[in-house]
Amino acid sequence: MTDRRKLAAGNWKMNGAEPDLAEIDALATAHPAPGVDVLVCPPAPLIHRMAQRLSESTIDVGGQDCHAAASGAHTGDISAAMLLDAGAYYVILGHSERRADHGETSADVAAKVRAAADARLVSIVCVGETLAEREDGKALSVVGAQLAGSLPDDVTPEMLVIAYEPVWAIGTGKVASISDIAEMHGAIRTALVDRFGAGGQGIRILYGGSVKPGNAAEIFAVPDVDGALVGGASLTAEDFGAIITALEAA
Ligand code: PGA
Repeated sequence: MTDRRKLAAGNWKMNGAEPDLAEIDALATAHPAPGVDVLVCPPAPLIHRMAQRLSESTIDVGGQDCHAAASGAHTGDISAAMLLDAGAYYVILGHSERRADHGETSADVAAKVRAAADARLVSIVCVGETLAEREDGKALSVVGAQLAGSLPDDVTPEMLVIAYEPVWAIGTGKVASISDIAEMHGAIRTALVDRFGAGGQGIRILYGGSVKPGNAAEIFAVPDVDGALVGGASLTAEDFGAIITALEAA
């Protein structure tokens, strides 16, 4: 079973303000009916405005994090239901920058995935090893443990996307080798099928880390790469559009 719909997901991180929404207008105009799912995850203050600008488009909007609780005394945090209310359908969870900057553990991520699923948001769960872990030969075991720990017990596969993002490849211009990507995506697929049975075949696995127009086609040709989570290159319609075109052709 390989009827997974490909997904090009943009992660704007802490970048973007009102004028940058012009890039979204340009993207929607250039890709009125993309042959793949397209998602942009802007900073929280832009979610609602971006969703409104994209209301006539098939491009989806997502958040970059949510709190594990539904509501309450958590100053500065945002619940999954609030993201949905603002127009989001997806949320990135457990990105390595949040694991590093905010000390998020896989157990924290699992609680957020649970909250997102309760709010009917699809989680993009990020996993990936550091350079030291790869050099120590621990990449597969580290990612396997992150994956196991970041998925709550009762989540259904329909509410999940996995993003493999080697930490050392994010924002650095370095990309994992094609054979390393193939090995890791194959291992993640096996773990998902072990965990979810046939449903694990339907979960999309994205590659992330310095995906650019110039390397996208090669990465998208790897088995079990169902799309990309794109940071820097998602900020302009020109670059993200070229990555969407490469994914459509894959
Ligand atoms: P990058 O970021 O494409 O800028 O490397 C990817 C990510 O962190 O999701």
